[in-house]
Amino acid sequence: MTANRSAGPAEQAESLDQLRAALMREQRISRALREVGSALGEMRDLDDLLELILGHLAELVGADRATLYLLDEVRGELISRIVVGQQVRSIRMKVGHGIAGYVAQTGMSIRLGDAYQDDRFDRTWDALTGYRTKNMLAAPLKNHRGQTIGVIQVLNKTGSADFSEQDEQMVSVLSTQAAVAIDNSRLLLSLIQKNRQLLETKEQLERTLRDQQLLLDLERATARASSLEALSLAALDLVTRACSAQGAALQLAEEDTGDLVQYVFDPTRSEDMQRLGVKAGEGLLSAVMNEGVAIDLSDLRGDPRLCDRVEGTYSFAVESVLATPLEGEHNALGAIGLFSKADGRAFDEEDAALLQLVSANVSTAVRLYRASAERERSERLTTIGRLLSQVIHDFKTPMTAISGYVQLMQDAPDAPRRAEYAEEVLKQFDQLSAMQREVLEFARGERSIFVRRVYLRKFFADLRRQLELELQGRPIELQLDIDTKVVARFDEGRLARAIHNLARNGMEAMAERGGVLSIRSGKDGDALVVSVADTGPGIPSEIEGRLFQSFVTAGKQGGTGLGLAIVKKIVDEHGGSIEVSSSSRGAEFTLRLPQPPPTDVPSQDPNRKESAAGHRNRGRATDAGKAPT
Ligand SMILES: Nc1ncnc2c1ncn2[C@@H]1O[C@H](COP(=O)(O)OP(=O)(O)OP(=O)(O)O)[C@@H](O)[C@H]1O
Ligand SMILES: [Mg+2]
Repeated sequence: MTANRSAGPAEQAESLDQLRAALMREQRISRALREVGSALGEMRDLDDLLELILGHLAELVGADRATLYLLDEVRGELISRIVVGQQVRSIRMKVGHGIAGYVAQTGMSIRLGDAYQDDRFDRTWDALTGYRTKNMLAAPLKNHRGQTIGVIQVLNKTGSADFSEQDEQMVSVLSTQAAVAIDNSRLLLSLIQKNRQLLETKEQLERTLRDQQLLLDLERATARASSLEALSLAALDLVTRACSAQGAALQLAEEDTGDLVQYVFDPTRSEDMQRLGVKAGEGLLSAVMNEGVAIDLSDLRGDPRLCDRVEGTYSFAVESVLATPLEGEHNALGAIGLFSKADGRAFDEEDAALLQLVSANVSTAVRLYRASAERERSERLTTIGRLLSQVIHDFKTPMTAISGYVQLMQDAPDAPRRAEYAEEVLKQFDQLSAMQREVLEFARGERSIFVRRVYLRKFFADLRRQLELELQGRPIELQLDIDTKVVARFDEGRLARAIHNLARNGMEAMAERGGVLSIRSGKDGDALVVSVADTGPGIPSEIEGRLFQSFVTAGKQGGTGLGLAIVKKIVDEHGGSIEVSSSSRGAEFTLRLPQPPPTDVPSQDPNRKESAAGHRNRGRATDAGKAPT
């Protein structure tokens, strides 16, 4: 009361002015906060928001300049984001350096009446710009977790006063708003970024999936393809559809001649390809092959590489091309190209990437295809060679027979006898041509065994005659024990060859001491059994277990080691098995050929057994019939 009473009208007016000023100030502050608040809710652009905040701040605290720095933690730098009151848009300073740098480091505000009196103040900037900093206020910008994310700095308060504590509070309030804006924007940005990443990943996945599907389809198609043409058509069809091209072509250089062939695919005209012989350097794909680099041209009008005879074959005008060479091991195998994208667009990067994938796939498929064709050819040649050597081996039998009969003919006194021998010679020639036919049939890929019903009586009677001829002049007795009423199914020529080979081995084994060669045959259950036994020294132990392999021979001059391999093969072809038993008293080979259940009753044959040689069991078994040939 005393004070009121003592205050004069002048003083009262002054305090009223102060109150009014304070009120206006509060109103300005609340207006600024309202504006900033609603801007935070509406404005999307961070810079606009920060500029608004900083503008209000400069006005409220009456600063000449205001700067907002953001902290780049990775580099340890402050970067000016928004500057109010001057032209310069970007200032960088190290954390810990200068006043703002110090605030960023400590997280504490600094208020200075005369900046030049403070050692932490860096005058360089003033020196550079000619500005004179007097007083200043710098406050940290903290996010909701209390971390410093930047600094707000105001310079040179208008009038003569320095920045006050109230100003510091003002900066603190608005810097909180700024921090919220920055946080929101960062959150939004990171959401947008994540969203974009997700979208990109999704697109990438879809693209990869599409590419994989295409490659899978291509892989399937090439695996099914029985020729290079089929392979080319599959690849062209797939890639034309995938890249929405109007047409496509695949050019390949022939392996041996180097001649160029182009397969032209124009789906609007035909689902098939057109095969075109191309001269070197003719057309776009030849250019790609020669230069060895891909091309992607959206406007081909007037291009000198266009060739009427090649690109002119399409039903549409070739305006754009995407083509790439097919890489070979040393030089280009060929080239593949897409022509004129549908609706006149240009081929894009995705098309190029896809064509690249397809071309890699196609060139691998072409190389594999060619390699396998080559392998097949050489395998066939090898087998023909092997077969020939076997046939030549078995030529011995009919040749020996022929020379035997010819000698007999020489000595034969009468014509009917000579005619009989001549008949035998002709039979042997038939045998020779049958063998020859076998090789030719194989070379043509038509070989199969010729199984038919055979009377054992007749079969072994013929065989006996031939063997006797071979045995002439040797101390070897031939004994046959045949169930002559049996009719069995087998390839007559082949089985005769097998028995001849076994018999010859037996004769060779007994050559020195002589002995008995016995052949037995008859049915055992469902199988036809033929055994050939000798009284020689038995199988040499060093080749036991390898007996039926080709080129395994022992203890013989001039042995090729093919005889038993041939026997084994013949038995296999009949689905049968072979067993051998051997001891120092001799060797015995037993063939078993399974017989289909009899559908017809064999005709009765009165001659049952030709000869009765006792069946001797020869001890240990050495080789089982399943040995590889
Ligand atoms: N009955 C047998 N008694 C003793 N050893 C035998 C008999 N049969 C085969 N062998 C042995 O098995 C080897 C292989 O016989 P194989 O008929 O396959 O070839 P090879 O007779 O040596 O030559 P070739 O190709 O001229 O027939 C013979 O070298 C021989 O050592
Ligand atoms: Mg032999």
